[in-house]
Amino acid sequence: MNKLNIALLSGGDSPERDVSLNSGKQVLAALDKKKYNVIGYDPAFDLNKLIADASDIDFALIIMHGKLGEDGSVQGLLDLLKIPYQGAGILGSALAMNKIVSKQLYEHAGILVPPYILLNSLQKISAEECIGKLRLPLIIKPVSCGSSIGISVVKNKVDFDKGLNNAFNYDNRIIIEKYIDGIELTCGILGNTDLQTLPIIQIAPDKKYTFFDYDAKYIPGATNEICPAPIDENIAMQVSELAKNAHRILNCRGCSRTDMILKDGLLFVLETNTIPGMTPTSLLPLSAKVAGIKFGELLDKLIELGRKAV
Ligand SMILES: Nc1ncnc2c1ncn2[C@@H]1O[C@H](COP(=O)(O)OP(=O)(O)O)[C@@H](O)[C@H]1O
Ligand SMILES: [Mg+2]
Repeated sequence: MNKLNIALLSGGDSPERDVSLNSGKQVLAALDKKKYNVIGYDPAFDLNKLIADASDIDFALIIMHGKLGEDGSVQGLLDLLKIPYQGAGILGSALAMNKIVSKQLYEHAGILVPPYILLNSLQKISAEECIGKLRLPLIIKPVSCGSSIGISVVKNKVDFDKGLNNAFNYDNRIIIEKYIDGIELTCGILGNTDLQTLPIIQIAPDKKYTFFDYDAKYIPGATNEICPAPIDENIAMQVSELAKNAHRILNCRGCSRTDMILKDGLLFVLETNTIPGMTPTSLLPLSAKVAGIKFGELLDKLIELGRKAV
C-alpha cells in the first residue's frame, strides 16, 4: 500500500499556539510511519510552503485550536487547495467556534444553555443590571476563544469590570453567563453521519481551581478526569444524545467534544469543540482509550473519516 503524504498543521497565531504545538508534537510521534509520510507545517510561518507543496499532499491533519485554525479559515484554504482534512469543514468549524451562534443553534433545537447576556465592546452594561438579571456568580467569556483563555468567574460586584476587561482582551464580543455550580461533564463523538459516542468524562479540577481554567486544563494532575463518569444511566443517555445532537446541529464531522454541566438533574450545554485537545492524555483521546481505541488508532480513524467526508 502506498503511504499517504500527511501535512501536519500545528502552531498558528492564536492564543492557543503553545497548546497546538504540544499536541502536534505528540500526534507526530503517534502517527504510524508505516502508513504515513508526515511533514509538519506551522501556519504562522509556512503557508507559502503549504501552498507550494499542495499537489503532493494527500491529507492534512489540522491540530490547531482557536482563531485561524479551528474557525474555518484553515479549512477554507485547504478546500481551495483541494487537500482533504480531518474534522469539521468551514461551516461547522465557524459555527462551533462562535459561542454565540452555537448557543443560538442549541437553543433553537431545545437544548438547555446557561442564561446569558451578549455584549460588544461599544455597549455598556452595569454590574447591577447584569447581576440583577442573572444573579451571582457569573462567568464572563470571549465569544471565540478556547482553553479557558479570557474567562473569569465573577463572585462579587467588584470583580465584574475586571472580568469584562479580561474577556475583551481576546475578542470584541463577549458572553456574560450565569455560573452553574454543578458537575462538569464532557462527551466525545466520532463519525460523519453514523455517530459513535465515546465514554463520558467527569471533569473535577482540584479544589484550588474555581473552574476548569487554563492551569487546571494543562498542569499535569491538576484535574481528576474520571472516565467513564460516575453518573446514572439515564443521565448518561441524555449526555450522549446531547453530544450527538450538538455534533449534528453544528455540522461537525469526524469528531467533536461537547462540554456540559449537570445540576439538579438538568444538563446545560456550554460549547462544542471541533478540534479537541490531541495529546494522548487529552480528554477525547482519553475517552477513546477507555473505549479501546489507542491514540494512533484514533488518528487513523480521523484520517479515514476525513477522506470519506463530503
Ligand atoms: N456557565 C458556566 N457555569 C459553570 N462553569 C462554566 C460555565 N461556562 C464555562 N464554565 C467553566 O469554564 C470552562 C471553559 O468554558 P467553555 O465554555 O468550555 O470554554 P473553552 O472554549 O475555553 O473551553 C468550562 O470547562 C467550565 O469549567
Ligand atoms: Mg470547553
